[in-house]
Amino acid sequence: MAGSAAIEAQDGQARTRQCGVIQIRHPLVAHHVTRLRNKETRPSEFRALVRKLAVLMAYEATKDLDVRPHSVETPLTTAEGSQVVGRIGLVPILRAGLGMVDPVLDLLPMAEVWHLGLYRDEDTAQPVRYYDKLPAERPVDVALIVDPMLATGGSVAAALMTLRDWGVPQVKVLSLIASQEGVDMVSLQFPEAQIYVCQVDPDLNSRKFIVPGLGDAGDRIFNTVEE
Ligand code: PRP
Repeated sequence: MAGSAAIEAQDGQARTRQCGVIQIRHPLVAHHVTRLRNKETRPSEFRALVRKLAVLMAYEATKDLDVRPHSVETPLTTAEGSQVVGRIGLVPILRAGLGMVDPVLDLLPMAEVWHLGLYRDEDTAQPVRYYDKLPAERPVDVALIVDPMLATGGSVAAALMTLRDWGVPQVKVLSLIASQEGVDMVSLQFPEAQIYVCQVDPDLNSRKFIVPGLGDAGDRIFNTVEE
């Protein structure tokens, strides 16, 4: 479910901005997601795969960033180029979202990082907020929420609500794996959001885990899986 809207960018060129759910179809993405799902993949490789996928997703999700003309002097002459404009906020949902921060910051070194602490109550599967230090004013122009998993969608919806309250005009969600039910719910509640995913899985089990999924991303990143 992806829509699109024509926008006029700062460089005067018309660009298309997609909204809704945008699945990134790329052989490398599919390859790395497959390794990520494998239960034999150890935490060190799991972390490396999350980083690779975060870069590939961020590349795709930043295609419509605003730029303005910017010229520089090369050793030979003047080159006309461009520069990304606007304040960009990177919003990791703790704790699994932390695994995607550094690789995305490598691409967007000018980004501000605003952490949101949310965990899912094991009995109710409802998000519980435990950390939020967003300022009351001066919202960023574009926010990228990063969290490897979008299961029921409750955590991402809570993050989107927080950013809506802050007044962020454009929000992108980057989730490696999502459930169909979760993306349907989030895109219905937040039709203006851009939800980038590597893969959408068909089911949630009785414990609201994505199936086939990859287990608990936070536990696999931080090596806290209980045997
Ligand atoms: C996982 C995941 C998301 C959330 C997804 O986090 O990283 O934040 O659950 O579920 P939802 O879409 O149903 O809300 P978890 O609560 O396990 O916390 P963690 O990152 O600390 O492991």
